[in-house]
Amino acid sequence: MGKEMRLDKLLAEVGVGTRSQIKDMAKKGRIRVNGAAEKKTDRKVNPEQDEITIDHLPVVYAETEYYMLNKPQGVVSATEDSIHKTVLDLLKNGPDSPVRTDLFPVGRLDLDTEGLLLITNDGELAHNLLSPKRHVDKRYYAKVEGELPLDAAEQFGKGITLLDGTRTMAARLEILEEYGTEESPGAEIVLTIHEGKFHQVKRMFEALGCKVAFLKRLSMGSLMLDESLSPGEFRRLSREEVEALRGLGESRE
Ligand code: URA
Repeated sequence: MGKEMRLDKLLAEVGVGTRSQIKDMAKKGRIRVNGAAEKKTDRKVNPEQDEITIDHLPVVYAETEYYMLNKPQGVVSATEDSIHKTVLDLLKNGPDSPVRTDLFPVGRLDLDTEGLLLITNDGELAHNLLSPKRHVDKRYYAKVEGELPLDAAEQFGKGITLLDGTRTMAARLEILEEYGTEESPGAEIVLTIHEGKFHQVKRMFEALGCKVAFLKRLSMGSLMLDESLSPGEFRRLSREEVEALRGLGESRE
């Protein structure tokens, strides 16, 4: 059984309006609880049992929501931005769009980075996934320009000293393919890191004299990008995916 909460709080959380707008709607008899017009917006309701409608349309409530987005390039990992579209803008106006208004991206991908981004309003899970103490694995696919040193995997395996002197933790480099010409060599790689410093992947390659030309996140902890999602597409997480992430968040402190 779900817990009880104030009617105005519930309606505000799903973006119906401000408390005073909600009061006004109630005064006009537009809000009904179990079929009866309700004027007292501070009354308690049980979101799992009570049927709430506005203008006879059901109000859908969710306490927490979880989405994976295949972030495209050119979109910022933020809830608001004055110049670019945000990852939250991409979740709007779909049949499976969030009902809540308090979602945020868990961590950031650069403007030009693609791939897996978790978007939720579960602050505790976000905190656990981002906590530097937890060392949650993040896997990235990248196209890298420049010649990788022969011992690149070894260097990543020991941790890299960035150009500003910061040491990173050990990371795992898999070289998928090396290509290009002698003058302009390149490689496709997968890198697994266990922390999330600012521009970390790009700066790790920079420290080896290379440049990341394309970057895509493949996974974060147990959560893997659903490859059926094209850049810009999203879907809700399954219950199993949420539980797996939670399990991960509880361990290793
Ligand atoms: N590392 C980067 O350099 N950029 C990202 O977007 C993510 C990890």
